[in-house]
Formats: sequence, C-alpha cells, structure tokens
Amino acid sequence: MRTRVTELLGIKYPIILGGMHWLGRGRLAAAVSEAGGLGLVSAGTLGSRDELQAEIDLVRSLTTKPFGVNISLGYRDMGEFFEAVVHAKVDAVFTSGRNPEKYIPQLKDAGILWVHVAPTFRHALKAEKMGADAVVMVGIEAGGHPGPDDVTLMASIPKASSIIKIPVIAAGSITNGKSFLAALAMGAEGVQIGTRFIATEECIAHSNVKELIAWADETDAVLFNLKNGGRTRAVKKEAVERFKAGTSLTSATAKDDNANDFVKVFRDGDIEAGLVIVGQGLGTINEILTVHEVIENIMSEARESNRELDSFFEG
Ligand SMILES: Cc1cc2nc3c(=O)[nH]c(=O)nc-3n(C[C@H](O)[C@H](O)[C@H](O)COP(=O)(O)O)c2cc1C
Repeated sequence: MRTRVTELLGIKYPIILGGMHWLGRGRLAAAVSEAGGLGLVSAGTLGSRDELQAEIDLVRSLTTKPFGVNISLGYRDMGEFFEAVVHAKVDAVFTSGRNPEKYIPQLKDAGILWVHVAPTFRHALKAEKMGADAVVMVGIEAGGHPGPDDVTLMASIPKASSIIKIPVIAAGSITNGKSFLAALAMGAEGVQIGTRFIATEECIAHSNVKELIAWADETDAVLFNLKNGGRTRAVKKEAVERFKAGTSLTSATAKDDNANDFVKVFRDGDIEAGLVIVGQGLGTINEILTVHEVIENIMSEARESNRELDSFFEG
C-alpha cells in the first residue's frame, strides 16, 4: 500500500503504534514494525537514557525494519532522551505534550524524521510551520489525553488534511479495517493506534487489562478530569466493577507497594488501583490477538470494505 506516510517512514502499511506510557516497550514496537507498521518505543516513563537504549536494542534484536520513539514532554526534562535517539539514529521521533521546539534541530541534523502529535488543529498548523514531517491529529475518541477542543476525527481530519500540506495521521478509536478506511477516506494518510495494540499477545500489559478491553464496550470509555493529569479517557469505574464481578480474573500480583497506580493497573493487573486508559474503540475489540493478526485483519477488512464502497457507487 502507498501513501505519503508509508513513503516517508519506509513502511508497508500506514499504521503506527501510538506512544503508550509504560506499555510502549521494545517487544510491542518490534512486533508492529515487523508486521509492516511503525512501532514506537515510549520514552515517557522510562527512567533513564540507558533504559531507553535497552528498549531500542531490544527492537533492533527483533526486527531490521524502521521504528521510532515517542517522547512525551511535560513530565520532566527529556533532553537525555533526545540525545539517546540521536545517538541511536532511530528512524523517527514522535513528540507529544509540550512544545518540542528546542530539541528539533538535533533531530533534523541527525536526519531523524519528526512527527508531532497535535491535540488541536492550531497545534498541527504550528508543527507544520516548525518543520514537522507529518502530524498526528488526536480526536476526542482517543485513549489517553484527547486534547482540549472536544473535536471528533470526523470533524478534524477532513479540515486538517485539506489545509495542512504535510501528511496527516489520524488517532482515536481506530481498531479495525472499517475505521482505518474511514480515516483514509477523510484525508488521513495513516493512522496511529493505541488501545487495539494493548489487547495483543506482545503487549506487556497484564492479562486482566487485556481481558477487560476485550470485554468492555464503547460506552465504557469515558473522560475523567484529573487534578494533575488533565482529561483522560479510561474505563468507567462501574464497568470495571461489573467486569470483576462477572469474571474470574488472575489475582493481581502487587510486586511493589511504592509502584504508582498506572503500574499497579497495567503491570500487576490491579484494575481498580487506577485508571485503565483506553479509547472508544472498545466496542470493536473482542479478542486478544497477535500484532500480526491485528494488522493483517485491518488490511484485509479495509480492502473488503473498499470494494463494498465501490459497489455502492456502481449503483
Ligand atoms: C494506555 C495509554 C497510554 C498512552 N500514553 C501516551 C503517551 O505516553 N504519550 C502519547 O503521546 N500518547 C499516549 N497515548 C495516546 C496514544 O498514543 C494514541 O494517540 C491513542 O491511544 C489513540 O487512540 P486509541 O487508543 O483509541 O487507539 C496513550 C494511550 C493509551 C491507551
């Protein structure tokens, strides 16, 4: 398949593993790249430059295909992570959160592609002006922080793709061939996926989290207003309780009393300890698959849906 995103990144399919706090590890990133998409290691929650280097080394031991690193700004000084990606010469860096301006010259000098994750249209325009190679537009449907404007992809992508000249990548609730095709029909040239890739065999998340995702519905992914973390889309508490009551989960294994809530949820499977961050695509995720199966299913369903659309036009 060919879009400006596949050409830019040197990948087979325009499918990107979104940066995911703690979950975006080398094994998952490598699996996405190996299956034809672009895997991203998430630097945000790694403790040091050495930890990031170890994840990058892991990716390189599992695939020779292109991959990147997501660096979320705003948690702490990320300078050492930018130094690490330049040193490792990864193919692409996806920035999110705060303005990454001061780090961009190092990326450009090293020949590393720079893609910015924009929470609003204004941010996307600004990233284009700053020299981004592509931009990810995050819709209100997305898991994690969906941006302040409450705008759906249906409204943002057709507008952004007709005004912004660099390729636009859509993120939010894309889980299967139909939503992938819809994003492309609206003008996106690629998609960034988070939640669907959590419910895969290669994701490090605890099986309780994966099973909750496969069980829950689109109405279960709601917005929480957090004091320090802004707005976050995650599974509503009542759904977590309903799920727990109806299943025999593997008992959570608290390994570390000092672990933060995010780690207790995603590593230890204690799904009541904090927010299970997910997008509204929950309603179309019904099983835990390999990354390869997820990507191949998306592609075959998209081709089939495209043929069906063509037949509508033939009258
Ligand atoms: C558990 C989880 C953690 C996330 N952490 C980050 C992050 O650290 N940095 C970032 O840029 N985006 C983060 N995101 C957003 C994703 O990169 C992506 O844009 C989003 O998941 C797309 O929506 P979807 O989950 O509906 O596919 C996270 C999403 C999830 C589900």
